[in-house]
Amino acid sequence: MSELLQHIDEAVAEIRKHTDATPTIGIILGTGLGALVDRMEISHTITYQTIPHFPTSTVESHSGRLVFGTISGKSVMVMQGRFHQYEGYSLQQVTFPVRVMKMLGVKTLIVSNACGGMNPLYRRGDLMLIDDHINLLGDNPLVGPNEPALGPRFPDMSEPYSRRLLEIAERCALARAQKVHRGVYVAVTGPNLETRAEYRFLRLIGADVVGMSTVPECIVARHMHMDVLGISIITDECFPDSLQPVHLEHVLEAAAKAEPILTTLVTDVIEHIS
Ligand code: HPA
Repeated sequence: MSELLQHIDEAVAEIRKHTDATPTIGIILGTGLGALVDRMEISHTITYQTIPHFPTSTVESHSGRLVFGTISGKSVMVMQGRFHQYEGYSLQQVTFPVRVMKMLGVKTLIVSNACGGMNPLYRRGDLMLIDDHINLLGDNPLVGPNEPALGPRFPDMSEPYSRRLLEIAERCALARAQKVHRGVYVAVTGPNLETRAEYRFLRLIGADVVGMSTVPECIVARHMHMDVLGISIITDECFPDSLQPVHLEHVLEAAAKAEPILTTLVTDVIEHIS
């Protein structure tokens, strides 16, 4: 057995000491977006520290636990707090929890994040459904020996974000007259925000928003044939010709404001996933 499979098995075995839940939906909550769990019927919570091979979240705005329960009557597991490359983790470490989710039965992954909006039509506080992405992390979580039991050596990426889930999410938003954009997310390492020249470049290569997460998790989920829905909250406007300084409090404030809208959308989508 490969080391990766062994580590996944050990993490699953520890989780199985706490719960026999078989969630089909996994959710990763991004910066400042932890409140979805308030809408859950919670059955179990497990802190990351107690799970073998789980990295522990170092970012203050991420609380670091797995939450099991139901949303809209469906069995879900939520990662409250995620890992980022800028914390010093390898992309294999960043995506390890997604591997564990798959082994616990998750088929659909819903990923949320805070991001900077570069499309001039986007405003702070808006939501964007991720239609596609660009990986500028300078690394890939699938580098290294492939584990064929998990997925193929050269996974297809023609539909990184499920068209079916995008349509469901758009319909759910429309039903509540909630505006959502649909666009391209580019992942950068951070942790510094971008320079004006970098924002110009990222816009030029086809991205609508920029952030420091989500892409590795999506790649690993697709490697294992999970369906992915990505939802971004635009927490700052990144227009190079009128760029204002951005502070973490400013990002968290925008995320907190948009959080109820995101929470409602995710709850609606889960209700409509078969
Ligand atoms: N750039 C990168 N990541 C981000 C940003 C940004 O402007 N805003 C929130 N996360």
